[in-house]
Amino acid sequence: MLNGKRILLIVAGGIAAFKCHDLIRRLRGQGAHVRCVLTEAGARFVTPLSLQALSEDKVYTDMFSLTDESEMGHIELSREADLLVVAPATANILARMAAGMADDLAATVLLATDKPVLAAPAMNVRMWTHAATVANVETLKKRGVTFVGPNDGAMACNEYGPGRMSEPAEIVTAIDAMLATTGSLTGKRALVTSGPTREALDPVRYISNHSSGKQGHAIAAALAKLGADVTLVSGPVSVADPFGVKVVKIDSADQMLAACLAAGAVDVAVCAAAVADWKAAKPADAKIKKKAGAPPPALELTPNPDILATLSQPGPQRPRLVVGFAAETENLVANAVDKRTRKGCDWIVANDVSPATGTFGGERNTVHLVTGEGVEEWPTLAKDEVAVRLANRIAGQFGPPRSIKAAE
Ligand code: PMT
Repeated sequence: MLNGKRILLIVAGGIAAFKCHDLIRRLRGQGAHVRCVLTEAGARFVTPLSLQALSEDKVYTDMFSLTDESEMGHIELSREADLLVVAPATANILARMAAGMADDLAATVLLATDKPVLAAPAMNVRMWTHAATVANVETLKKRGVTFVGPNDGAMACNEYGPGRMSEPAEIVTAIDAMLATTGSLTGKRALVTSGPTREALDPVRYISNHSSGKQGHAIAAALAKLGADVTLVSGPVSVADPFGVKVVKIDSADQMLAACLAAGAVDVAVCAAAVADWKAAKPADAKIKKKAGAPPPALELTPNPDILATLSQPGPQRPRLVVGFAAETENLVANAVDKRTRKGCDWIVANDVSPATGTFGGERNTVHLVTGEGVEEWPTLAKDEVAVRLANRIAGQFGPPRSIKAAE
């Protein structure tokens, strides 16, 4: 998937630097060219020789080396790369990046680049959670740097928590997502549903679920970045409206269906909303009163309209591509495969929503993509990375190549 892509890998000084060997191997296994810049501190953990042997390329270490500059100047190093990867991204190099310093070759290349940058942080948990690092990461994110990890786990310093560098496979996936070649969605219309629905029992109570809208909103944003004209129909959520997307806010499934139909003809529909399957058969007009000694009121439910199945119905208005989600707590793939057939959609994105997974409301998601061709298992990714990857796949069904990255 990375055939011919040029990755400039900046290895800073942390114990996680040893994972770079595996990272280089994996990237080269996917057809990428890897060139390394090694900081002075990085060279205490891995040797230029090992990086050179694995990358089969010269390793750059010294800004003032006449040989390095004549072979490949520091500006040229970033100019000829498709992507810069900082792994491990230590607290020190993140601080230097945020401050715009140019005090060694790595920092200078990072300051001089206009290419996408991916950082894989690795540091002690208290360094990662320190206000200075938090502020540096925030600054870098605002400037467009993409982050992968860090993960929670045991550390070399005998502590436990966030700070472990992502595994090489996760870093490769993030690189894939940033460099994926896709089709453009310019001129295409997209409809996305997101968030929960609320089904009133009476004027003060309702049935709902834990959906936060993070996944659906990220998909709307990713489709918009690829040029689509996106309408997002959202249940009640506290996440911000995505930039450049028309947002229609609703409460109930009936309202969501009406808003989807009112959006008119679209090229692609993605139903990520957690729509309540049932609603009260007869919602009360006034608050249902609790009477001393009386049994709780019986709740009579009736099915809600199925928005995904409605949008999937054959006909001239049917979107060219309809993508549903399957939220399961058991038999994930089998249920998702069955759901795709029952609902009549083209693809299903299956995710496990058991409480232990943290999928509802969390930042990450582990999905399987079920298409007519089979089932793809995706690694655990940040929800915006799932969104970018899905948007890229959708765009691949439509137009000529272009690429976006998660934090674009
Ligand atoms: O919002 P987050 O906190 O980020 O969490 C994301 C998510 C878990 C909500 C999301 O990834 C997800 O799985 N969305 C689908 C939730 C769901 O309702 O799944 P389901 O298996 O019950 O429904 C299957 C499909 O039918 C879904 O595409 C759903 O939108 C659609 N549906 C369901 C019922 C209904 N009445 N109308 C529908 O359109």
